[in-house]
Amino acid sequence: MKRQIYVRSLERRDLPSIVAMEERVTGVARPQYWEQRIELSEAIRPHWTSLVAEFDNRFVGFLFGRAGELEFGLPGTIAWVETIGVDPAYRGRGIARELIEEFISSAEDHGIKTIFTLVSNGQTDMQNYFSRQGFAQGKMLHYQKELSS
Ligand SMILES: CC(C)(COP(=O)(O)OP(=O)(O)OC[C@H]1O[C@@H](n2cnc3c(N)ncnc32)[C@H](O)[C@@H]1OP(=O)(O)O)[C@@H](O)C(=O)NCCC(=O)NCCS
Repeated sequence: MKRQIYVRSLERRDLPSIVAMEERVTGVARPQYWEQRIELSEAIRPHWTSLVAEFDNRFVGFLFGRAGELEFGLPGTIAWVETIGVDPAYRGRGIARELIEEFISSAEDHGIKTIFTLVSNGQTDMQNYFSRQGFAQGKMLHYQKELSS
């Protein structure tokens, strides 16, 4: 039997799986953070922008995104990929590809023409992944200011 990747909308019941997956990767459990992040998704993010991937009926990855209109002086609506993560034991099987393809397909259904994300300089795995998914470096400039504590 062919093993199936299944992408669906994120639900509140996914909270323990997200927390456990991050803890396996980073050693840090952040249940409150993720609970609030899911509440934010449910409250103000379009339903289609938060996704979960299952493999053999098991939680193996997630994507949190959003969509914003007329942001940064840009025309139309832009969708953002904010966080994407796949369980290390299930990487390299096309799971993140399925997540982003579902996200792109929903964005297209909503008339969106551009998808943004931010990747930090050192994160070559993310840079490679987004490049393989057809993302190119954009023209926006990233500004920041360090605050003295
Ligand atoms: C980057 C990440 C999402 C990729 O997930 P994945 O399920 O293994 O990716 P896929 O198998 O769907 O790969 C999709 C494409 O990207 C490429 N790719 C994925 N990871 C890559 C890497 N590290 N280096 C080079 N290419 C990579 C694949 O080769 C594939 O290319 P193809 O379409 O030409 O075959 C995953 O490694 C990850 O979760 N990294 C950590 C992200 C993180 O820190 N998130 C924060 C919350 S926990």
